[in-house]
Amino acid sequence: SQMEPVIIVLFGASGDLSARKVIPALYNLHLDGLLPQQYAIVGVARSSLTEETLRERFRQGVDQYSRRGPAKEQEWDAFAEHLHYIQSNYDEPTLYDRLTKLGDTGWETPPNIVFYLATPPNLFTIVIDQLGRFSELQGDIRYRIVIEKPFGHDLHSAKALNQRLLQVFEEKQIYRIDHYLGKETVQNILAFRFGNAMWEPVWNRNFIDHVQITVSEKIGIGRRGQYYDSAGALRDMIQNHLMQLLCLIAMEAPTEFTADQIRNKKVDVMHAIRAINKADVPAFAVRGQYGQGWMDGQPVQAYRCEKDVDINSNTETFAALKLFVDNWRWQGVPFYLRTGKCMPGRVSEISLQFRPVPHHPFAHLNTQVFQPNRLVLQIEPNEGVVLRTQAKEPGMGMKLKPVDMSYCYQDVFHQASPDAYETLLVDIMRNDPGLFMRADQVEAAWSVIDPILEVWSENTELNFPNYQAGQWGPPEAESLVAQDRRTWLLPI
Ligand code: BG6
Repeated sequence: SQMEPVIIVLFGASGDLSARKVIPALYNLHLDGLLPQQYAIVGVARSSLTEETLRERFRQGVDQYSRRGPAKEQEWDAFAEHLHYIQSNYDEPTLYDRLTKLGDTGWETPPNIVFYLATPPNLFTIVIDQLGRFSELQGDIRYRIVIEKPFGHDLHSAKALNQRLLQVFEEKQIYRIDHYLGKETVQNILAFRFGNAMWEPVWNRNFIDHVQITVSEKIGIGRRGQYYDSAGALRDMIQNHLMQLLCLIAMEAPTEFTADQIRNKKVDVMHAIRAINKADVPAFAVRGQYGQGWMDGQPVQAYRCEKDVDINSNTETFAALKLFVDNWRWQGVPFYLRTGKCMPGRVSEISLQFRPVPHHPFAHLNTQVFQPNRLVLQIEPNEGVVLRTQAKEPGMGMKLKPVDMSYCYQDVFHQASPDAYETLLVDIMRNDPGLFMRADQVEAAWSVIDPILEVWSENTELNFPNYQAGQWGPPEAESLVAQDRRTWLLPI
């Protein structure tokens, strides 16, 4: 269907997020013909830039970060015509007088106006309050607001932010981004689970021993020290991305594929997660911070020596959790989550480890260690699904060997996946909030991790750094699973 005209107001236009993610995504949508005929992108920032220099900056972002590689001259020029710049302070009332009048374009169909907050979080409420002066915005779906994490830094501040937002906009106008939800492989979890009949019967405590979710990154924190040092791995990754993956694995089947059905089922999971008492935190949560080490044969400096990081920082660059989902399906099945920076490999994957066979007829052969079945949903960088099974190794006698049944996107789907931001931007323009975080989801996720944050902030006598860059986190991460007689599974 024809898309309605749109004006995207990009607050924080001179920042990292705009150049790395938002603009390259919009540019790719432009190339794919997925933007409406009539559109404009209006950058807003404090920096004294000209429209020309902003366009140049955006172009560099595309050249460097677009999945398609550098922009071609003509195509870029056609896109750049749509880019505009307003230099202003964010608390300047006249800015908003101007922005709210952007809809008076004279276009045949009046445009939707998307306010995209790609700014540091301390500016969120300033912008929201200014927009709040225009009561005509409230409830009018032509106006939408997009907000990037962090949504607060704990439950209390997240609630305050939601309240503020909801004074100015209605929930249906608010698009809270968790970019993981836009990834093809993450959306595929729903297709995999609910488009196939064979998983449901085994997708529960009767067959599944435990679940592991690993999101490990090789990169450190780059130029984001200022943000990261006040956040840490638990807030930066677990509260949002990993918790959302957990919800997709643990949720019940929706009866309809609608935004609120799916979000209801997901938030049910969050509410079923067993609360961790403060006294139990050490048994359920582990944190780490990398010291100097080696990655790919290169020395890497300690986290505390990174730019804009406190030399005595107690911020964690690694976090691992054990969670239980207290409902009929999952009672007693641990979900182990871990994420970290400067790990030995970049991998996001979810492993469902099945129980061992109830009785081994082959046990007397005693020729190898039998591996229980394992289903791995590979989010990235390898995109695919792997089911590890046992097979008879050809030859005399009965010898078993693990064999993988799998598909990978590269072989099966001969087209490139859109970047998560492309998918999300299209959904914003089409007014489909299914892949976005509702206020209650955000708050429920904070409720889960709040006690951990509290205990961690109280206890500052740490042995940080406690892992070397290039290792899989601190030894305590091993103990977290070892105390349950399990091990972290290596990527398949
Ligand atoms: C972001 C975090 O939300 O996700 C970053 O703030 C992290 O710290 C990034 O590097 C990882 O995203 P992706 O898409 O590269 O897995």
